[in-house]
Amino acid sequence: MIGLFRLVWGYIIYWFSSVGRHGLQSTFLYNLNEFVWRYDKKNLSQNRIEAYREACLKNKTVIDVKDFGAGVNGNIKKELSIASIAKNAAKPPKYARMLFRLMEYLKPENVIELGTSLGISSLYISSGNPKMKLTSLEGCDSTAEFSRKQFQQFPDLNIEVITGDFDTTLSELLKSKSKIDAIYIDGNHRYEPTLRYFNMCLPYMHDESFIIFDDINWSEEMKKAWQEIIKHPSVSISIDVFMMGIVFFNKGFSKQDFKIRY
Ligand SMILES: C[S@@+](CC[C@H](N)C(=O)[O-])C[C@H]1O[C@@H](n2cnc3c(N)ncnc32)[C@H](O)[C@@H]1O
Repeated sequence: MIGLFRLVWGYIIYWFSSVGRHGLQSTFLYNLNEFVWRYDKKNLSQNRIEAYREACLKNKTVIDVKDFGAGVNGNIKKELSIASIAKNAAKPPKYARMLFRLMEYLKPENVIELGTSLGISSLYISSGNPKMKLTSLEGCDSTAEFSRKQFQQFPDLNIEVITGDFDTTLSELLKSKSKIDAIYIDGNHRYEPTLRYFNMCLPYMHDESFIIFDDINWSEEMKKAWQEIIKHPSVSISIDVFMMGIVFFNKGFSKQDFKIRY
């Protein structure tokens, strides 16, 4: 109850301290804001993803899910229906559309996602740019297997799912990369791993790269992690939209932190 009260109070503070289109002086931010947050129209290519979400929400099949909740790192298994995973873990349409438009506008090609689950956010991210190769990491074998199969219905999208704990899969994956254009971190929302993943990915960032962190206001740990991340000297611009935060690394921008109303 206290957690919910804190979240609502945090949202009220965010709403009054965030800016609309008139608070943004830089051309980059003004245009990004117009495209991503002010133009929240549905795109036809999203209908098939929402149809997939609907099918998942009706799917009563039960699978063995490895629980990656705080501190248990996949050591506990529980039985969950696809419907309940879709209801509780998948990004809601509003924020999924935001991911799509970020990709459509910034056009990253080499993208990593931490936390595939049923693949709803993966599909939104990937369809934002037809040239993208998305590598999505997931610790739960049965969820990963389910998503991998579903992605066959989307042959135009280039999504690879790698199974295993982020602690090993992320470092293995990074060894095969020289640079990464975008990363979406939507799993293991705790202070230490969030900062660790950020620091591991930093050497692969370039002027056009960005990292999206989910649930930055979900807990005190995540708020603390976000505050440290935006203070990092390599981060130039940070954008807080309450449910998510985005950091950019362009050395040409002067350091600024924004809260954008969405
Ligand atoms: C919130 S869900 C992802 C939802 C998905 N991005 C979407 O919006 O459709 C987080 C996922 O991350 C996975 N996860 C959490 N911690 C992990 C870890 N340490 N290693 C691997 N997977 C992990 C969970 O199994 C879960 O499926």
